[in-house]
Amino acid sequence: MRPDVRVYADGDRLGREVARAVVERLNAPAPADIRTLCLAGGQTPRILYRVLATEYRDTILWPRLHLFWGDERYVPPDDANSNYRLVRESLLDHVRIPKENVHPMPTDLPDPSDAAAAYEQTLRERFPSPWPRFDLVLLGMGPDGHTASLFPGSPALAERTRWVATARAIVEPRVRLTLTLPVLNRASLIFFLVTGAEKADVLRRVLAGPAETAPYPAAAVRPEDGRIVWWVDEQAARSLPRTLLPPTQ
Ligand code: 6PG
Repeated sequence: MRPDVRVYADGDRLGREVARAVVERLNAPAPADIRTLCLAGGQTPRILYRVLATEYRDTILWPRLHLFWGDERYVPPDDANSNYRLVRESLLDHVRIPKENVHPMPTDLPDPSDAAAAYEQTLRERFPSPWPRFDLVLLGMGPDGHTASLFPGSPALAERTRWVATARAIVEPRVRLTLTLPVLNRASLIFFLVTGAEKADVLRRVLAGPAETAPYPAAAVRPEDGRIVWWVDEQAARSLPRTLLPPTQ
């Protein structure tokens, strides 16, 4: 089945379109009172967070929204590399979301493995079912096909029971925390945000199907009972064959 790929001119236009779709998802009628949104790190979603904090500041029902992180660098929350700081600066500082609704990954324990276990406990308190099922998960993708902090060749890719694992990026010494594939693959809806020419070749391989996807963690994100929408800018879409582009393009 053709992947749901939506292409926009640039990161700005893409961020605005994704913001609209995020709000539509969060405000859609649903049996549960609360909504659960899992946030992505990296630079691409910054525009999205800014648009949610400005144009949709008064549209989102913040008291019923709970925010989680898909991954985190193991640094203090005020560190320039912190995904929590990215979201605080671009979103949290500008909206009236109750503090108890914001669930950052802990990075203050001496042993990151303990922090991973602590975050799993946080998720278990929020999600009664055997696995957490987020209403919406935001993910980015690196030029090597990593997503969240699941990097090619990482032992965390093989994790099938823990919800949160420690991980290391190949290019940096820093430890990270990441949700594991079993958790990501139980999301109801996943938005991948992919921008930049440097990702075009890997994006084509990830979307092309199983044969070429062995080394790419983003290709292992295939929700069992959920949907993926790929939000892509023209630079990242430039290697996609017509068969993978939206019919209108
Ligand atoms: C992180 C992210 C990571 C990111 C990709 C894409 O902590 O860095 O979780 O998976 O989404 O590396 O990053 P950009 O959006 O900056 O290209």
